[in-house]
Amino acid sequence: MNSSARSRYIKIAGVLGFIILAFYFLSAGGTSSVTSVVPGTTKKNDGSCTRYVLMIDAGSSGSRIHVYRFNTCKSTPELEHEEFKMKKGGLSNYGDSPEEAAKSLDELMEVAVTTVPDNYKSCTPVAVKATAGLRLLGQAKSDAILAAVRTRLETKYPFPVVEGNGVSVMDGSDEGVYAWITTNYLLGKIGGPDKSPTAAVFDLGGASTQIVFEPTFPNLKGGGMPEILAPGDHHYDLTFGGRSFDLYQHSHLGYGLNEARKAVHKAVITAKFGEKQVDSSQPVLNPCIAPGMWREVNVDGVKINMTGPPHSAATLCRSFAESILHKDEDCKLAPCSFNGIHQPSLSKTFAREDVYIFSYFYDRTQPLGMPSSFTLEELKDLAAKVCEGEAGWKVFSSVKGALEELRDRPEHCLDLNFQLALLHTGYDMPLHREVKIAKKIKGNELGWCLGASLPLLEKNSGWKCRIREVGH
Ligand SMILES: *[C@@H]1O[C@H](CO)[C@@H](O)[C@H](O)[C@H]1NC(C)=O
Repeated sequence: MNSSARSRYIKIAGVLGFIILAFYFLSAGGTSSVTSVVPGTTKKNDGSCTRYVLMIDAGSSGSRIHVYRFNTCKSTPELEHEEFKMKKGGLSNYGDSPEEAAKSLDELMEVAVTTVPDNYKSCTPVAVKATAGLRLLGQAKSDAILAAVRTRLETKYPFPVVEGNGVSVMDGSDEGVYAWITTNYLLGKIGGPDKSPTAAVFDLGGASTQIVFEPTFPNLKGGGMPEILAPGDHHYDLTFGGRSFDLYQHSHLGYGLNEARKAVHKAVITAKFGEKQVDSSQPVLNPCIAPGMWREVNVDGVKINMTGPPHSAATLCRSFAESILHKDEDCKLAPCSFNGIHQPSLSKTFAREDVYIFSYFYDRTQPLGMPSSFTLEELKDLAAKVCEGEAGWKVFSSVKGALEELRDRPEHCLDLNFQLALLHTGYDMPLHREVKIAKKIKGNELGWCLGASLPLLEKNSGWKCRIREVGH
């Protein structure tokens, strides 16, 4: 069948399908039975709507596969199903044997082989995106591993491997932008008819924190503002679903939660001892530890017993958290958020749109009973309560698991004050600003994987269906 005959055939099939559906609809006399009929009919009679994408997330602690199934006959590709499997031990664990590293993905690929029906396999792209952990092995070793992975995927499996950077270490900027795509896609703000303003995403990991948003520059005469996003590494020009987006993005390395904790502890030690020899024989009073609690932490190789103050010192803790942001660092391209990094002002270019905060932002607030959206003022109140220690925690007794969470984590006070300092002082968000916390939207995990998979549904996205070789 040539392509015009094929498209004619599809059109006729589509019209017939519609008539059949309309008949079902009329005869069933209600929408509830129609919804149960439609998906089955679509799958059986019109396979051309179904597309699969395989995305392997090669993280530092483990690898994961996502097998996505989309319905591409809708105005926006609709995510219908996701199959997921994780394997502990990342590619970097096999630094000296690229072959073994490549083989470690076999058990994940098995999920793809069993999930994707045979007649779809040759048109189901697979990509492998490693995060920064692999880079730590050094260029030569990480290149060898990625090459071995590509070879194994191309020779052992029927799926087309995405060309170019289909098997690669992902840039920090891509990671943030893909998370932005995931979020806005699941919210229905991109890829479809909805042209309402997009949401900003703020991710908080262990080592770094990312901010991505689409600033709008109203044409204010004499407002002293640039009318477009200034050029530079922070500018990400994204084309998605036929629209183009000028995004601001930055990944602040060293400002993930674990790194921030280290920096705050160090600031407490420096404030106490200055240039003097650190005395680790006595506990050190730390306003970021809840009263009545203590924790042993390693500061530059010295073990220190960090002990909470007798009474709440939330405000003092926040001032230590602010100090690590280096607000007064030299700002080469104004305005800057913190640490000398350029960022358009949120209050001027992103004043009312939705702000989604996730990962550790979610993990530290939701278990204490915070609702899906709250203001920074409310986050401040929460931090103050948490920093009171056991004496102030009665309010949490109605939240299942909250007290266990607090008793388990002497640094909860630090974590919340750092989050507040980052959002309010660092990014300059006013206290009345509302933020939304989420782990999933419409049942799908937030994160970069879905956002990196969606562009692969578009034409010319770096892969072609494989021609089946004779004998396969
Ligand atoms: C740390 O100090 C607290 C008192 O401030 C004490 O109760 C605790 O036992 C100490 N921990 C260690 C490991 O020394």
